[in-house]
Amino acid sequence: MSYPTQVLKAGENFAGCPGIRRAAESLRAGELVAIPTETVYGLAANALDEQAVGRIFAVKGRPADNPLIVHISEMAELEKLTMRVPESALRLAKRYWPGPLTMVLPSREDVVPSLTRAGLSTVAVRMPAHPVARALIAAAGLPLAAPSANLSGKPSPTTAAHCFADLNGLIPFILDGGPCGVGVESTVVDMTGETPRLLRPGAVTPEMIKDELGELILDPAIYSEPDPQSPVASPGMRHKHYAPKAKVAILKGDWQSCKAFMALKKTQGAMALVFEEELSGCPLPALSLGPQAEPETHARALFACLRELDERGAERVYARCPQSDGMGLAVYNRLIRAAGFEEITVDS
Ligand code: TXA
Ligand code: MG
Repeated sequence: MSYPTQVLKAGENFAGCPGIRRAAESLRAGELVAIPTETVYGLAANALDEQAVGRIFAVKGRPADNPLIVHISEMAELEKLTMRVPESALRLAKRYWPGPLTMVLPSREDVVPSLTRAGLSTVAVRMPAHPVARALIAAAGLPLAAPSANLSGKPSPTTAAHCFADLNGLIPFILDGGPCGVGVESTVVDMTGETPRLLRPGAVTPEMIKDELGELILDPAIYSEPDPQSPVASPGMRHKHYAPKAKVAILKGDWQSCKAFMALKKTQGAMALVFEEELSGCPLPALSLGPQAEPETHARALFACLRELDERGAERVYARCPQSDGMGLAVYNRLIRAAGFEEITVDS
């Protein structure tokens, strides 16, 4: 089906906003709506309607083995979706919900359609903090399945304009709630085992989870390319992600060594992704992720930068290596996927 995609402004009075009312009606009718959350924009549908969820997979071109996150606005909804919620999950929810944290829990398979879970016995649940997302979930009276609102494999959208660029003509509404505050997707933690396991790093950092629970296993797929032969805890980690058209490589080394390396790579279509302090001295045309000491700024800027590199016609991109702790880990995790795991050590 083809639509004249409309961008609706989510106004100040969220609950009474006409945009939210129309979006909620659309969702109840089984349609898809792109919605703002504090992390990235989501492509939302009624999580309990298998047909509506099927549309998400069709529109995004998403592999059917990659399950969706179900978004709720109240704790009471968690019990309806899950078989049991361990005490540790309740503690994380109490401390970090609403917010950029997703927990994988045993699913009520009679309630959550198999397609939403990609056939797994677990369901990923998150309570977003964005006032528009929360008002919309409440207005629709439904849990919403929402992957990032990009075409599969593309950088996630952090503005309504990014959603429009990917989804114009494919969905009836995009709800515009302004640019996303966090900029990278939620932290995903598997709470079904004895020890919680981090599947995807985000703004709720490993340090923050350990502070509440004392222990956390970091899944190796966070840093390294999953072995195609072995099973992965989170199917999403297997698929190509966040990739601009350009071939990206992460440079590992200090700025002086990176600069010397880049100076040798000056060709048509070569560009760099650097920290703000390095822009003026960079030998290649470059975009900035923000000041080196501000990983939160890098997270907000990353996906917009990847999209802009495409617009500028970049063919080869050399990116500075983000920190690998705190919020830096979330940025590194996305960038290494955008780079297809290509890292070049440039230290002399
Ligand atoms: O911030 C976010 O989480 C955004 C916004 C819209 O809420 N959503 C998002 O969804 O990033 P998506 O579909 O792009 O990423 C969901 C990730 C995938 O890596 C998927 O494999 C994993 O969560 N996931 C979902 N359900 C799972 C499950 N039952 N077990 C393990 N991993 C699961
Ligand atoms: Mg995604």
